[in-house]
Amino acid sequence: MNPRAWALIDLAALKHNLSIAKAAAPESRLLAVIKADGYGHGIQAVAQVLSEADGFGVACLQEAVMLREAGVEQTILLLEGVFSFEELQLVRQHDLSIVVHQLQQIEWLERLGEHDNDAIPTWLKLDSGMHRLGFSESAFMAAKERLQRCGAVRGPITAISHFANADCPDHPANEQQLSLFNALSADFSQKSIANSAALLALPQSHYDWVRPGIMLFGSSPFLSGGASPYQLRPVMTLKARLFAIKSLKKGDAVGYGGCWVCPHEMTIGLVSIGYGDGYPRHAPNGTPVLVDGHRCSLVGRVSMDMISVDLQNHPDAQCGDQVVLWGEGLAVDEVANAAGTISYELLCGITSRVEFAYLDSEQGE
Ligand SMILES: Cc1ncc(COP(=O)(O)O)c(C=O)c1O
Repeated sequence: MNPRAWALIDLAALKHNLSIAKAAAPESRLLAVIKADGYGHGIQAVAQVLSEADGFGVACLQEAVMLREAGVEQTILLLEGVFSFEELQLVRQHDLSIVVHQLQQIEWLERLGEHDNDAIPTWLKLDSGMHRLGFSESAFMAAKERLQRCGAVRGPITAISHFANADCPDHPANEQQLSLFNALSADFSQKSIANSAALLALPQSHYDWVRPGIMLFGSSPFLSGGASPYQLRPVMTLKARLFAIKSLKKGDAVGYGGCWVCPHEMTIGLVSIGYGDGYPRHAPNGTPVLVDGHRCSLVGRVSMDMISVDLQNHPDAQCGDQVVLWGEGLAVDEVANAAGTISYELLCGITSRVEFAYLDSEQGE
């Protein structure tokens, strides 16, 4: 049975992007951030291919346990730490590392007590200006001292923070965050602040661990400019099929709400993907798609199971032709930009009815 929508995951591209990240920060260890099911690519497959990473960053215990059960032996860091005291037991059981970003988490560690060999590697988070997670400038050193007295913590503690504006490398807040992080982490032996954007554009932020996510999947971490200047390759190519072709007259309105009215006679193609598959419903008229390699435009509102496209750039299109929604030949960043969102959201949003196929483009599988 032919799938109506499918995602091809190019494992060689993933490996290639990892090598770009490592080459850009050769002195640092690399924690590959693969939360949200490996940014929508399948967390276990991604971790297996990224075996050269020094560690993995995930959002929650479930993701971490999944990786350990799949045989991952490297550091696995819970980027938001634990959500309850009970989770700490599992953290210890699975030899996970945790971020500590608030007092309650320190209290839970104190309650856990000493467990010599299975104490927990701990990263202490500074709120250096993002004002999301982390201890404030005034509370950070006291939190560190309290953690150092805590027998459940395996030292030395790593200082961690996160940029709010690294996607605009010239943003003045980057330097402000960095200088606060520098000042407060001076006596930590291990530090980490760089995400993909900082890894590529702010080498002064590399420190001991870099934490790339999106660049590993071949998308640009910057607000403007694509991924190509960095030789990143797309990992996910999302595909569907042209399954109906219609001739419409000038004035015909297409789809729900009739938000596209044909300005002249038109040939419209129906493509077997919609918001029920994770294609963004808010993608407007003009969003690019590739029909059999030809660049065409979305017209009309995105439905749950299908979209309509203007076939004027491909008059020979046939039912059964493959359509690329993003990936090889059409950057996910361009589609995200057209749809008023970011590649992260598109990649993470693919639903379970899309079939996944893993291939290694270098081995021609
Ligand atoms: C704490 C932390 N570090 C690193 C990353 C990776 O960021 P990016 O995907 O932009 O490289 C994320 C992702 O959101 C994160 O939350």
